[in-house]
Amino acid sequence: MNTQALKETAKALVKGGKGLLAMDESTPTCNRRFASLGIPQTDDARRAYRELLVTTPTLGEYINGAILYDETIRQVTHDGIPFTQALNDAGVMPGIKVDMGATELAGHPGEKITEGLDGLRSRLQAYVKQGARFAKWRAVMTPGPDIPSHGCIQANAHALARYAALCQEAGLVPIIEPEVLMDGDQTLTQCAAVTQEVLRSVFEQLHVQRVLLEGMLLKPNMVLPGLACTTPASVSDVSEATVSCLLRTVPAAVPGIVFLSGGQTAELASARLNDMNARFTSQLPWALAFSFARAIQQPAMEIWKGDPDNVKKAQQALLHRLRCNHAACRGEYDADLEALRG
Ligand code: 13P
Repeated sequence: MNTQALKETAKALVKGGKGLLAMDESTPTCNRRFASLGIPQTDDARRAYRELLVTTPTLGEYINGAILYDETIRQVTHDGIPFTQALNDAGVMPGIKVDMGATELAGHPGEKITEGLDGLRSRLQAYVKQGARFAKWRAVMTPGPDIPSHGCIQANAHALARYAALCQEAGLVPIIEPEVLMDGDQTLTQCAAVTQEVLRSVFEQLHVQRVLLEGMLLKPNMVLPGLACTTPASVSDVSEATVSCLLRTVPAAVPGIVFLSGGQTAELASARLNDMNARFTSQLPWALAFSFARAIQQPAMEIWKGDPDNVKKAQQALLHRLRCNHAACRGEYDADLEALRG
């Protein structure tokens, strides 16, 4: 294991107040998002959309990495330029989602386990040859009465740690994504308790599996009330609860934390990340940045709608969200910047 290279890549992924673009939706998820906007769910439409993303001018001013999906890492632009090369040329490191999705966890009704460990070593070697510098694995936990169970948390934490160790062996920086979902009616306090327990288990398993903390990134949910919760939480409530949960659970050796957006609106995701960086930076041992999918892409996808004539406008919308989130990493996002969306 090249420890020094892993440390450098992990640091480089969060340097300069920049984050990551998650564009690693599986084919079914991408198709579902296309269907909701009336976009044809074809190979060609998915390729064209991903080309729009990777060829957005000045991408590298706002992000250090982009997470691709198996289908996408092999694709090329209409001029024949591999997506990985387009990203590298823009100063953006290509990464790859390597989990095979979540399925029902036996004996645990309503809970899921992420699959993909079998054969992972050889898949990782192939992705390295295709130009990936880092990887991602998402585990998903649903808060509810008596769940997530100890069994679900332990099984997912163990899988995340096995994945992370294999990545580091292959020279890839693992992004470790234990997501506590925001559907449901849990309160902010309940979400904080579940997230804290999940992160404790994850770091315990990372230790057991000898994962180099300096050579990884954590991709957690923000601590939020569920979408059906009737007790509202302000931006500062969310930012305080999230920072306090992370300070209690994430070792200082981890170079960066890159949040998922999880179904928050694009504006709230930016505002909450901004508040954390504006108020707490001096107390934080790690960089706090973003690895959003929906909260970056949704406005662009809604403008594009599958029409080549809309590509430029969609790219402007993408850049607007990237600019807002880059500012949020420095605590400089505000209503004036948000209003510049044009
Ligand atoms: P969202 O930001 O849409 O939650 O997606 C992040 C991600 O990578 C999910 O695995």
